[in-house]
Amino acid sequence: MTGKIANSPPVDLPHVDVVALLDGLPSPGLLIDASRTVLAANQPARETLGIIRPGESISRSHPIPALLEAIDQVLANGKRTVRELQLSTTPPLICEASISALDIDGRRYLLIVLIDLTSVRQADVVRSAFVANVSHELRSPLTTLMGAAEALEGPAAGNIAGRSRMLALMGQEARRMKNLIDDLLSLSRVEAQEFIPPDQDVAVLPLLEGARERLSERAATRGIEIKIIGANDVPKVPGVDEELFQVFDNLISNAIKYGAEGSVVTVTAQTVERGVRIGVHNHGTPIPATHLPRLTERFYRVDKSRSRSLGGTGLGLAIVKHIVSRHRGTLLIDSSQGAGTMFSVDLPTGR
Ligand SMILES: Nc1ncnc2c1ncn2[C@@H]1O[C@H](COP(=O)(O)OP(=O)(O)O)[C@@H](O)[C@H]1O
Ligand SMILES: [Mg+2]
Repeated sequence: MTGKIANSPPVDLPHVDVVALLDGLPSPGLLIDASRTVLAANQPARETLGIIRPGESISRSHPIPALLEAIDQVLANGKRTVRELQLSTTPPLICEASISALDIDGRRYLLIVLIDLTSVRQADVVRSAFVANVSHELRSPLTTLMGAAEALEGPAAGNIAGRSRMLALMGQEARRMKNLIDDLLSLSRVEAQEFIPPDQDVAVLPLLEGARERLSERAATRGIEIKIIGANDVPKVPGVDEELFQVFDNLISNAIKYGAEGSVVTVTAQTVERGVRIGVHNHGTPIPATHLPRLTERFYRVDKSRSRSLGGTGLGLAIVKHIVSRHRGTLLIDSSQGAGTMFSVDLPTGR
């Protein structure tokens, strides 16, 4: 192909090797002729679409109705068209196919380029599920609040015991909504900062002591004792003080909420290869293995009503996950009958 680019200073274009041009594309690209025969396909196309043999018709190798219909349309009118396709690959992909006509020496060829939209579409699904979840989580305490307000105006109006019961209920539901909003704000803050590396040097033991201090009264109401076992020579880690405090506070408060009554929650800090490992262990009913991979999803709870009745929002571990990832650390969860439940956070000491 030689030619000039319209409306630009004249340049001499080289004779282009179509295969080399396709191979230079970062996305799957194919060239077919007017009889839908594949002339060339690049490596990304082979990776995405599987075997593509030059000389074979694309209608036979990839009989995707939306694609074939778009191909016929561009063959007929020569106008570039864009079509969204569902590919039944493993895993299934959602792609946008851009099909343009190349008219060379009186013959029409088509260039097909695929753009993978799978992660964009998945993000859309996650976003709308998140909005639905937030709405639902806010709606239930709000419904209770409205019911209590109505009761105060009506049946509970002249009844002192009923009135104070309703007021207590309203306070509880309002606190639930506040917890949820606080956690949502926390989550959005840590998500926004996830890719900014921390720049302070943080000693973890004082943070663990601080979390114990904040939570020991709550632990005592369940007869739980919080024990911290940590050597004083545990090195500092690059981190953000308040964020790491939030991690330990969340994990210890979960251990108190979900651990066995009258048991011990053990928090350990130790030096490991390349970093520091903080473990939060509790006794009690283990988390079934099928739930483990999903625990850090927003609003994921093993037992929704139990979490709600304990004032949980289902956002704690999602916040923990983002903070740990900002610190380039890892979060591991182990839970089994007998051994109890252990959340371990590994934080690297090197920058
Ligand atoms: N130490 C633990 N023992 C048992 N289950 C736990 C523990 N920590 C977390 N979980 C489970 O993980 C879920 C999600 O935890 P989290 O995100 O902190 O939300 P929340 O505590 O607000 O419910 C909890 O609802 C609970 O089912
Ligand atoms: Mg929690």
